[in-house]
Amino acid sequence: MRVIIVTDKNQMGRVSADLIVSDMKRKCPYTLGLATGSTPVPLYKEFIRRNHEGQIDFATVMTFNLDEYVGLEPTHDQSYRYFMNKELFDHVNISKKLTHVPDGRARDVAASADAYEAQIRDVGGIDYQVLGIGSNGHIGFNEPGSSLSSRTRKVRLTQNTIRDNSRFFARKEDVPTEAVTMGIGTILESRKVVLLASGANKVEAIAKAVEGPVTATVPASALQMHPHVTWVVTRDAATGLRLEWEQA
Ligand code: PGA
Repeated sequence: MRVIIVTDKNQMGRVSADLIVSDMKRKCPYTLGLATGSTPVPLYKEFIRRNHEGQIDFATVMTFNLDEYVGLEPTHDQSYRYFMNKELFDHVNISKKLTHVPDGRARDVAASADAYEAQIRDVGGIDYQVLGIGSNGHIGFNEPGSSLSSRTRKVRLTQNTIRDNSRFFARKEDVPTEAVTMGIGTILESRKVVLLASGANKVEAIAKAVEGPVTATVPASALQMHPHVTWVVTRDAATGLRLEWEQA
């Protein structure tokens, strides 16, 4: 595994953009797996800057997001579709028709989750998957205890995640309690993975996920099984790591 310790969020954005952009040059069309949350925002800012400077072309890029809340309209300002439009898609030359987010409003969520898996398969799989990590070690909305071979499905959110996300909603009661998420098995099939982490609230999750045992109790630890994973971690999130890792 490659772990790169960076000084701050801006450097995290640049280093992760370098990894992905150089891989994008290798293949066309290209399929990106994307994540929401505050962590990937510096990466998306880099994508936007480099797109405006002509260094990356999104015209033939397809995207699949990890997850979406159940019950929120795509136009709701806390839905992940809305987030992706606002933080990335509205600012680059991507075709919105080629961007995919799981459908949190589907009448038959299970069928829609299966269709999402089929779409990913039909385009030949995800080339580079971007991940954040929850303070409880989750990836996507695969909460502790998720099967390491899980697929896209509806899940219940833990109280820990509902608490972490409540800062974005006016009232705690408004935070959705269910979501649709790619599974850990789905994520592990991506050709390459980059997991980003910043902030002191991620110290324990990063230490356990990178250097602890592989266990469903820490979903991100499953990435230790992936042949091409890079963890880009800010110094303040890396203080629990003990091995000698690369400093950017
Ligand atoms: P955050 O969320 O980037 O807002 O910390 C990460 C996650 O829960 O995956």
